[in-house]
Amino acid sequence: MSLIDALEWRYAAKRMNGKKVDASKIDSLLTSIQLSASGFGLQPYQVLVIENEELKAKIQPAAFNQPQVVESSHLLIFAAWNEITEEKINAFIQLVSETRNVPLEDLKAYKDAIAGSLLSRPVEDQVKWMDKQVYLAMGTALAAAAKLEIDSTPMEGFIPAQVDAILNLKEKGLHAVLMMAVGERDESSDFMVNAKKVRWPKEELFIHVI
Ligand SMILES: Cc1cc2nc3c(=O)[nH]c(=O)nc-3n(C[C@H](O)[C@H](O)[C@H](O)COP(=O)(O)O)c2cc1C
Repeated sequence: MSLIDALEWRYAAKRMNGKKVDASKIDSLLTSIQLSASGFGLQPYQVLVIENEELKAKIQPAAFNQPQVVESSHLLIFAAWNEITEEKINAFIQLVSETRNVPLEDLKAYKDAIAGSLLSRPVEDQVKWMDKQVYLAMGTALAAAAKLEIDSTPMEGFIPAQVDAILNLKEKGLHAVLMMAVGERDESSDFMVNAKKVRWPKEELFIHVI
């Protein structure tokens, strides 16, 4: 399937059939998240990969009982950091140094640019910025899932504080931003399975500036 065909094929599944998605496909999906772009490349988030059925059942009420939570093969919880610290920026710069084999001293300007932009902001603004990076990561994952022919549901319909408590995210320095149910659509029970895509026409969506 071409990428465009895959994006036509995908939809936000409302019901899944509980079948397990191949581990190799899940690994490719996780790789797509790892490869997502992010501001400064900082990736200020972690993604919890949940297969445990009891845990999914615990989370479901916090997600307004949406069925995909428990009918999924894997439930991904995209959680952003609670704050950006100098230590985190240092760890990232260390990773850049090791990965690209560049001495730390040569990365000082990069580090100062990141620190100057992010550490000066109040924590609420840091969180807003980090949450945006999470949306981009899930966007990448949604497209990748489609290309891998895995069904998925992007979800912000949940009570973050409850999910944070169930998963002890505060202790991990994280807060839940988005969920993504991953699995196989249930053709027999999903009322959206044959629904046409509703999208603004191109003439309205795009403004070609000439
Ligand atoms: C950030 C975000 C949050 C969403 N939250 C939910 C959700 O909680 N439950 C759900 O069933 N669909 C959810 N959706 C799915 C959207 O309703 C769906 O993507 C939109 O109607 C377009 O349809 P399509 O993705 O099926 O093409 C969400 C989508 C996005 C991008």
